[in-house]
Amino acid sequence: MENQKNILDYDTVALDEAQDAVIIIDQTLLPGKIELIALHTAQEMWDAIYLLKVRGAPAIGVAAALGIYLLANRIETEDFEEFYQKFTEYKEYLDSSRPTAVNLSWALKRMDAVAVKAGREEHKTVAKVKEILHDEALQIRAEDVEVCRKIGEFGLELVKPGDGILTHCNAGQLATVKYGTATAPIYLGQERGYNFHVFADETRPLLQGARLTAFELHSAGVDVTLICDNMSASVMSKGWVQAVFVGCDRVAANGDTANKIGTSVVSAVAKQYGVPVYICAPTSTIDMATATGADICIEQRKAEEVTEMWYKERMAPEGVKVYNPAFDVTDHELIAGIVTEYGVARAPYTESLKEIMERKAQR
Ligand code: MRU
Repeated sequence: MENQKNILDYDTVALDEAQDAVIIIDQTLLPGKIELIALHTAQEMWDAIYLLKVRGAPAIGVAAALGIYLLANRIETEDFEEFYQKFTEYKEYLDSSRPTAVNLSWALKRMDAVAVKAGREEHKTVAKVKEILHDEALQIRAEDVEVCRKIGEFGLELVKPGDGILTHCNAGQLATVKYGTATAPIYLGQERGYNFHVFADETRPLLQGARLTAFELHSAGVDVTLICDNMSASVMSKGWVQAVFVGCDRVAANGDTANKIGTSVVSAVAKQYGVPVYICAPTSTIDMATATGADICIEQRKAEEVTEMWYKERMAPEGVKVYNPAFDVTDHELIAGIVTEYGVARAPYTESLKEIMERKAQR
């Protein structure tokens, strides 16, 4: 256990020095204990993602990219097709760990594409393909930092010093490599003396807002106030919130956005009080192949996440029926803007998101 450093001094997800494991902070233990764990096997990687030891759309994308590289690196064959068959098995296995955040399959597809290009089209040796996969995984990780910083810059233009900002779940550094997405404007504002007042929804059932967002923002010295999920109308009615910044797990082509369960409620409440809702979305989370929110697969999780406390004390009667979707979809009409690394997309999203993705493709 290492408790001396600030949580923000740790890497959320990284390769170990020996390049033999993916190192993550076990986020299920936060804020009580900062423990780094090493993921070596495909099963360990799958479990870590499914059990939310590493979580948040960008972070699981990066974890999967680093993970598939490590697994690929251990495949013992000189024959590309044999290598690729095993690679595909690992890829599909990791991809099955969680369904909603598109970053997971986005990162794995990107790794797959470089492997196919190098091995099949350019006829490189398997050793060279492994090297290329290594570089691509590290590139995906490095890009995440850059992308979040840009989202922070664009997001900062939407608010002014002293504003109140409400956020839901954790789209912070713990959900990315650095800065976070929804927290990026907050961290950049902090560097520039903006003195934001942040309200962090606790985010039931797994308390990512209380355990993670409040923890990391408080550790960074940001003025953060933890509220229960049913308090957003109360703080908004008092005029304490000028903007909502949230992350996302998948943005459909029409702007409908899946994010942690409860985001759509916050967005509806914000509309009622005239508070703009901004979705902070790396383009890796925008899925133009999904037409609307109705087409997004929403992960259903175990009932015990609702009926038992994080520390395993029961809070509901045995046998009671439970409905526990991990995410919900915020209708695009409730969204004031989608903040990407290429700028802020505004309604009509079908056009603005298309334009942003085309700009990305031309890069
Ligand atoms: O179930 P989780 O904790 O992975 O859910 C995370 C969220 O909903 C985040 O808001 C989203 O992944 C964006 S993280 C930048």
